[in-house]
Amino acid sequence: MSESLATVSYIGATILFILCLGGLSNAETSRRGNLYGMIGMTVAMLATIFGPHVTSAGLSWIVVAVVVGASVGLYLARTVQMTQMPELVAFMHSMVGLAAMLVGFANYIDPASGMMQGAERTIHETEIYIGILIGAVTLSGSVIAFGKLSARIGGKPVLLPGRHWLNLAALLVVLYFGYVFLNAESSQGMAALLVMTVIALLFGVHMVMAIGGADMPVVVSMLNSYSGWAAAATGFMLSNDLLIVTGALVGSSGAILSYIMCRAMNRNFISVIAGGFGTGSGAPAAGAGGAGGTTQPAGEVVAVSAAETAELLREAKNVIIVPGYGMAVAQAQHTVYEITKLLREKGVNVRFGIHPVAGRMPGHMNVLLAEAKVPYDIVFEMDELNEDFADTDIAMVIGANDIVNPAAQEDPTSPIAGMPVLEVWKARTSIVMKRSMASGYAGVDNPLFYKDNNRMLFGDAKKMLDEVQTALRA
Ligand code: TAP
Repeated sequence: MSESLATVSYIGATILFILCLGGLSNAETSRRGNLYGMIGMTVAMLATIFGPHVTSAGLSWIVVAVVVGASVGLYLARTVQMTQMPELVAFMHSMVGLAAMLVGFANYIDPASGMMQGAERTIHETEIYIGILIGAVTLSGSVIAFGKLSARIGGKPVLLPGRHWLNLAALLVVLYFGYVFLNAESSQGMAALLVMTVIALLFGVHMVMAIGGADMPVVVSMLNSYSGWAAAATGFMLSNDLLIVTGALVGSSGAILSYIMCRAMNRNFISVIAGGFGTGSGAPAAGAGGAGGTTQPAGEVVAVSAAETAELLREAKNVIIVPGYGMAVAQAQHTVYEITKLLREKGVNVRFGIHPVAGRMPGHMNVLLAEAKVPYDIVFEMDELNEDFADTDIAMVIGANDIVNPAAQEDPTSPIAGMPVLEVWKARTSIVMKRSMASGYAGVDNPLFYKDNNRMLFGDAKKMLDEVQTALRA
C-alpha cells in the first residue's frame, strides 16, 4: 500500500471514529455508532498492517499477534458476564497502559533512536519519557481498579499518612529523573527511565487505592481517559498520526465522561482524585429484618410478598421502575420487560428512571434494558422524571440502593451527601426489591427502607419478578 493510500485510509478511519463517538452519545443511534467504530478500526488495522512501514519480515509477527489478540478478545467477549464488564474494561485499560510502556522502552533501545541528535533527539526522548509515565500510571491504576471492581480488593479507601506530600514528592522525583534522562549520554538514561517507571507504577496504585466507595465511576472514566492519552503518546513515539488522533479522541471523551460523572454525583473532580471518600462496599447496613443487619436497627421495615406487589402494581396508574446493580446481577431485565408489557396492556403508564451512575459502568442499565428490547421512549434520565415521583403510584426499585438513598439529600454528614438521587420515596408507595438489608456500593445505610410508604420485597430480583409476573397473569 502506498503512503498516500495509507494516509487517505487513516483520514477515513478518523472520520469513522468521530461518527462512532457521535452515535454512542444516544441509545437509539448507539448500534450505528458501534458499527462505524468497528469499520473504522478494521480500516485502521488494514492500513497499518499493509502500510508502507511494515516489512514482509514484520508481517508474519503481526499476523501471529493479531491471531493471538483476536482469539483472546473473542473468547472474553463471548464469555464475559454483563456484571463483569466494568472489570473487563479496567483490564483492557491496563493493557493499553502496558502497550504504551513497552513501546516506550522498545523505542528507547531501538538503535535508530540512538542516532538522533539535537532537538530531534530531545523531542523523541521527551515523548518516550511521557509515554512510559502515562502508560505506567494507567497500567497499575487500572489493575487496582480491576481488583476493586471485581471485589478482589476492598472498596474502602486506603489513605496513607501525608499522602498528598507523598504524591508531590513522587512528582518532583519524576521531574528530576526526567531532567537526568534528557541529559544522559546515548543509552545511559535507562536507569532514570526505570526509576521513573517504578515511581509511576507506585503512584497509579496509590492514587486508585485512595479512592473508594461511590467515587469509583469517576476512576473508571478517568482511567479510560488516561488510556487514550497513553495511546496518543504511543502515536507520537511511533510517528503514527492515526494513533495520535484516536488516542486524543479517547482521552478527551474520557475526560468529558469523568466531568459528567462528577456532575452526576455532585463531586469535585480534584477532590475525587485526592481520594478518601466512601467506606467499605457491601457492608451490612444498620437495619431490622434483613439478613445483613447486624447493628442497631435504624427503624422498622415492612416486607411484602410477590403477590402483594402484583396487587399494588395492578391497582396503579403510574409506575416508575428504577433499576440498579442488583438487576444486572440477577439478570432480571427480561422479566422486568415482560412485567412492563403486562402492565402496559392493562393501561398502566410504566416508565424507567435511570441514574447516571446506576450499576457499575456508564450506561450499564441502558445496555441491559436495550438487550431486553425495552422501547427507548419509556426510558428516562434521572433529571427528566425526578419531579414526577410525587404523581406516581408505585416506584419499583429493582436491585438499586445508593442511587435511591434519601440520605444524600437529608443527611449532610452522609458520605454520599449532595449526590443527586432518584426521589422514589416521594411516590405514593415505593417497593424495594433486594435480597437483604445489606448496603450498596458506597457502604452506607439507606433510610428509604424505613419510610412509612416503603415496602421491601426480599429475594433475588429475577426470582421475585418471576413470581410477580405469575401473580399478575393469574
Ligand atoms: P448499589 O448501591 O451497589 O446497590 C445494589 C443493590 O443490589 C445492593 O444493595 C444489593 O442488595 C442488591 N442486589 C445485589 N444482587 C441482587 C440480586 N441478585 N437480586 C436483588 N438485589 C440484588 O447499586 P446502585 O444503586 O445501582 O448504585 C450504583 C453504585 O455503584 C453507586 O454507589 C455508584 O457510585 C457505584 N459505581 C458505579 C459505577 C458506574 S460507572 N455506574 C462504577 C463503579 C461504582 P442485597 O445484597 O441486599 O441484595
